[in-house]
Amino acid sequence: MAKLKVGVLISGRGSNMAALIEAAKASDYPAEIACVVSNVADAPGLATAQAAGIPTAAIPHKGYPDRESFDRAVSAELERQGVELVALAGFMRIQSPWFPERWKNRIINIHPSLLPAFPGLRVQQKAIDAGARISGCTVHFVTAELDAGPIIAQAAVPILPDDTADILAARILRQEHRLYPMVVRWFAEGRLSTSGGRVAVAGVAPGSTLLFSAAP
Ligand code: GRF
Repeated sequence: MAKLKVGVLISGRGSNMAALIEAAKASDYPAEIACVVSNVADAPGLATAQAAGIPTAAIPHKGYPDRESFDRAVSAELERQGVELVALAGFMRIQSPWFPERWKNRIINIHPSLLPAFPGLRVQQKAIDAGARISGCTVHFVTAELDAGPIIAQAAVPILPDDTADILAARILRQEHRLYPMVVRWFAEGRLSTSGGRVAVAGVAPGSTLLFSAAP
């Protein structure tokens, strides 16, 4: 069967992108990474993707007069590559409402907190400062509202007394690399449906949309 074509948008390191590339190497994985697009020309993730033989494009947002014209250029590139699902992976650019509408129900993001707690930036520090005992990551559908679309799956990790934001970020990131390929697989298998802002995942064991890791 034809594999689902995924377009990954990045701005930096691209470790989640690399996790998706790695997962897609398995012959039974139902998705392939069709292209990687970055708004940052020297994003390290672009070199990682190129080394894996994946088509890349750098589309610096500074070259466009407003958010929507940049978004339309990105979208045109994704269409050119035949993309069917857009996966944001550390894409540090707020999009115009046009983009999530264009890719409605076909665009997902990974965020390093247990949403709806701590949307936005520097969220590991915010979780520590709040005295939270648990944090994690969330994969959700993208809507026009930042970090607020329907939640598909989450992974939870402890926050330990001596954690710095970097230590916590690394602990969460290990779970991101498990969670994102899992969700892309479900999407590709046609398991996801959204109703009333809630996502159902057909044919998976109850509880499998939440990963736990107690490892420090
Ligand atoms: C990750 O923590 C992701 O959750 C957030 O941005 C970071 C990107 O890291 N949206 P990487 O570029 O995938 O390594």
